[in-house]
Amino acid sequence: MRLFIDTGNVAEVEEIAAWGILAGATTNPSLLAIEADDPGEIVRRICDLVGGPVSAEVVSAEPEGMIAEGRALRELHEHVTVKVPFCKAGLAATHALTAEGIPVNVTLVFSANQALLAAGAGATYVSCFMGRLDDISIDSGQVVAEIVECFRAGGVTSQIIAASMRHPEHVITAARLGCEIATVPAKVLGQMLEHPLTTAGAERFRTDWESRPEFVEWLAGLVERRAAVVGA
Ligand code: E4P
Repeated sequence: MRLFIDTGNVAEVEEIAAWGILAGATTNPSLLAIEADDPGEIVRRICDLVGGPVSAEVVSAEPEGMIAEGRALRELHEHVTVKVPFCKAGLAATHALTAEGIPVNVTLVFSANQALLAAGAGATYVSCFMGRLDDISIDSGQVVAEIVECFRAGGVTSQIIAASMRHPEHVITAARLGCEIATVPAKVLGQMLEHPLTTAGAERFRTDWESRPEFVEWLAGLVERRAAVVGA
């Protein structure tokens, strides 16, 4: 399963792109609305940083408006995927934009039926919001499992994005169920790093090594001698 970052914050993308784990990103109007910078600049910068698909969302309610916004957003950067909310107008816009070769991420999908409709309209990606399903006491794992099963059984090629990830367990569920992608906020990506045994283990390795000062000196010398030879 590929990992996207779900954010409108360039600094977060800068930090996490350096980990080498990001295959793409998703933004949404709410995430961009809390940032000070120009939304177009943010989207372009995130595109450059992740070097993969970055979703930028339309906000019109009518298909014509969605299509016009989608074409304009796509021109911001070659990595832009146009994000379209699930609804009748969104399906029509998805159909039109994909016919022009523009990749579309249909968002706000909460059921297998909606996912099948989005895929039928030509969506490259279908985003199912796990956290928001759990918020209303619907088992998000079951909904995602249904979508995966329906897509596999019918040979549907749209990729499933598990979205609205609230904690690391959502990411594991999405991966186990066979989602192609999970789009994850920086906070949850940070939580995925954590394990007390890793922290304690690293600390133990360091103190054991430092208990032998001649070893510390030896390794520093090794690095210095190499730098003297290669000039770095
Ligand atoms: C997905 O593309 C959305 O931007 C996002 O995952 C929504 O998450 P939320 O429910 O935490 O707002």
